[in-house]
Amino acid sequence: MKKIIEIEHLTKEYKEKKAIDDLSFNVYEGEILGLLGPNGSGKSTTINCILSLLNFQKGSIQIFGQEMTPSSYEIKKEIGVVFQEVAVFEELTVYENIDYFCGLYIKNKEQRKQLIEDAIQLVGLEQYKKFYPKQLSGGLLRRLNIACGIAHKPKLIFFDEPTVAVDPQSRNNILSGIETLRKNGATIIYTTHYMEEVEIICDRVMILDHGKIIASGTISELKKLTQIEEKVTVEILGLLEKEINKMKELQNVIDVNYQNGLLIITYKKGENNLPKLMEYFKKNKINYQKIYSERPTLNDVFLELTGKELRD
Ligand SMILES: Nc1ncnc2c1ncn2[C@@H]1O[C@H](COP(=O)(O)OP(=O)(O)O)[C@@H](O)[C@H]1O
Ligand SMILES: [Mg+2]
Repeated sequence: MKKIIEIEHLTKEYKEKKAIDDLSFNVYEGEILGLLGPNGSGKSTTINCILSLLNFQKGSIQIFGQEMTPSSYEIKKEIGVVFQEVAVFEELTVYENIDYFCGLYIKNKEQRKQLIEDAIQLVGLEQYKKFYPKQLSGGLLRRLNIACGIAHKPKLIFFDEPTVAVDPQSRNNILSGIETLRKNGATIIYTTHYMEEVEIICDRVMILDHGKIIASGTISELKKLTQIEEKVTVEILGLLEKEINKMKELQNVIDVNYQNGLLIITYKKGENNLPKLMEYFKKNKINYQKIYSERPTLNDVFLELTGKELRD
């Protein structure tokens, strides 16, 4: 596999604070690599260092086999960035904004026309070409921000939390747009603190905490890091302490948690956990409303590695 980015021992400190602590990793051609971590874990700082927008104390960064520096203009031409904060011109329309950003890379006007149309189509803004940013909802504005960052068809694209505070429709549109970009040959780095998104689109994930990689691999490799095999959630009222303690003794059970009428039982590998639990409820005359079983999530992995939740 061809390496598109190679990072070795990257360390970035702001005054006393170590924002990135000795990061080393590669990004391979054609993959969507997820950087997953809670707020403040160092995702944006990592991206900004890779892009040479921030200087750093230690480490080396190579992109397309060459050292990346603030004046690496040939490398920068092939890169697209969608920053965490939306940055568009209020006085330009949707079409004019994309034209402006694309024009920074592509001087030929005719060639640009097609690129702008492709970008508008990718993010689904066909109906809004003549709208000004102020007239767009938060989700549509994010989609414009994306179109501006990718219209020049870069080979390498960075997305920094592109779905924060967007409606579900825009979120789906953004995620499927990113998959299309990859299908068309781009290599993508995607940061988020939403583990669900990483599970949907990323081939490989690095989990960051306090500027360090605490785990990395494919989704299934990461899930093997937790001993949890299955999680059963039950809506149940007025469960007594002694009933909870009895459940802790059931076969394959790792842990039992009961809060606000929600019982969560985590199981290690074993068969028929759910039917056996339903049978147990029946035998002990315990009534419940809903019951469902899930596989462990990346949040469970994060919780086991760090002792805290990944969610907001
Ligand atoms: N300009 C700055 N000056 C000082 N500290 C900063 C600055 N930018 C970020 N930090 C700190 O560096 C850490 C990593 O921040 P950041 O990379 O923005 O995290 P993330 O993108 O994962 O939310 C945080 O503790 C943050 O407070
Ligand atoms: Mg950030």
